[in-house]
Amino acid sequence: MSTDRPQDDAGRLAAGRILAWYEAMGVDAALGEAPVDWLARPDAAPGARFSLASTAAAPATPNRAAPVPAQPRQGSAPPPPMARPARQFPARAAAAPAGDARLDVASARNLHELGAMLASFEGCGLKATAKNLCFYRGAEQSPLMIIGEAPGREEDLEGKPFVGRAGQLLDKMLAAIGLTEDKVHITNIVYWRPPGNRTPTPQEALACRPFLERQVALVAPKVVLALGGAAAKQLFDVADGIMRIRGKWRQLEMGGHKAQAMATLHPAYLLRTPAAKGMAWRDLLAVKAALKA
Ligand code: URA
Repeated sequence: MSTDRPQDDAGRLAAGRILAWYEAMGVDAALGEAPVDWLARPDAAPGARFSLASTAAAPATPNRAAPVPAQPRQGSAPPPPMARPARQFPARAAAAPAGDARLDVASARNLHELGAMLASFEGCGLKATAKNLCFYRGAEQSPLMIIGEAPGREEDLEGKPFVGRAGQLLDKMLAAIGLTEDKVHITNIVYWRPPGNRTPTPQEALACRPFLERQVALVAPKVVLALGGAAAKQLFDVADGIMRIRGKWRQLEMGGHKAQAMATLHPAYLLRTPAAKGMAWRDLLAVKAALKA
């Protein structure tokens, strides 16, 4: 008979949940050589004074080891939260990716060679915290290329895109239009998991973009299907939300290859919002018709 009291069980359960949350937030992703004791720093919490505008205008942080204390505002009350402008992320970053991969990747004759180049590529910061490269799964050449946002935890562990819960739903969606894994090519706009499953930044996507362009050229799809807003914004260079972008045909040219392209709702969103499945189903039927035409 167990001598544990109910409160011990509850405590263990709560501790397990806290640990799971820490893991999901990326606590196992070491970002520096030495640990940082944020609580020992006397200034503001990390990120509290961050703004995209000030980062763009200002030179690099003058002294990371000795941060400047926050200046108290003189004689004015802090603005109400609603007065702050929303952070705007451009669909494309202005700067070129670190290390121009364009010249090299054009020489990759197949996905095997492209994968080897990716494995040695150091121009995307996500690689530092990811466990594995997630290149693609499915056929090497296919009439349908599916491009998602970024690998998650399961994908990072397995080294393949869309193998977690969202991937399982994606497989069911494809089965519903008569397609199996060996008939499609599945990848993401970035090839490494962002820590804590955050959305990849435009800069991270741009760093991976030359590889994605070459990948599109090698897979030579008739139809490209973007999953979710992040992928659609990066591929189509638009700033609208996914509800406006989805379900519309566009001409896409990547790596010199032309394809018809459409965006639909991300399967992870559909898992959270089953009522939206009807919209995704309509998009899939349009994809099925385009593949047959
Ligand atoms: N979500 C994505 O966008 N890509 C994956 O590979 C997994 C989940």
